[in-house]
Amino acid sequence: MRPEKLAQFEKWYDQYINTFYGDDKYINANIRLKHDHARRVVEEMRYLADSLALDENRRRIAETIALFHDIGRFEQFIRYQTYHDPKSIDHNKLGVKILCEKKILDIDIAERQLVEKAIALHGTKQLPTDLSGDEALFCKLIRDADKLDIYQVVINGYRRYLADPDNFDLEVELPNEPFVSPEIVEAVLNGKRVGYEFLKTWNDMKVLQLGWVYDINFASALRRIRERKLLEQIVDFLPKTPQIEQVKKVIFKYMDDRIKNNVNL
Ligand SMILES: [Fe+2]
Repeated sequence: MRPEKLAQFEKWYDQYINTFYGDDKYINANIRLKHDHARRVVEEMRYLADSLALDENRRRIAETIALFHDIGRFEQFIRYQTYHDPKSIDHNKLGVKILCEKKILDIDIAERQLVEKAIALHGTKQLPTDLSGDEALFCKLIRDADKLDIYQVVINGYRRYLADPDNFDLEVELPNEPFVSPEIVEAVLNGKRVGYEFLKTWNDMKVLQLGWVYDINFASALRRIRERKLLEQIVDFLPKTPQIEQVKKVIFKYMDDRIKNNVNL
């Protein structure tokens, strides 16, 4: 992949997304959220690429994936007014379809396939076990880079909602009830993945987000989560119960062990 390709992709990305802004403040706020998200995911990706000392070509592929990983989000929100895939469309697959239709990925075919594979799998519950070395690398990278930024996005959202719930301009997918479902706590304590379909409250979502650390692939990503105190901030938005304290203890021990021993998945 030629170095100048990245700048071309960035230019196209902004031009494409600018077509989705209109007069509706709610739609604009939600489009803006994902527009800026991808830019920051590129930054997270650069950090991960540095930490793994990737060569220049792999670094460019990784940045392309980061920039385009949520390209399906914009059409999804305009068509369905939600980012909730089960209620609308699989935004991973939609993203790949858009890139194909727009014929934007005019790079080496093997590289294009790597980009498409990583986008198609960036938001799935788990990665398939039959990926090639490079496929697995890029899939793992985008999933970590994405989560690094989403953690900050959700924290900002929780903070803004608390400050002024009546004027919250982003989508809230679950009821803001004060309780946490015991089965969600149980799953996270046991290191199990929970499907979004089992969430009942916004607090369940926060507990599930604490459990994302089990899916973080690279110790360097965990280090960043630790340095930014992202999980501490999420815990602050949860009720102060012994169950939540227990979740916190288990999650932090898991994270610190992996950081200390530099364990990548
Ligand atoms: Fe996504």
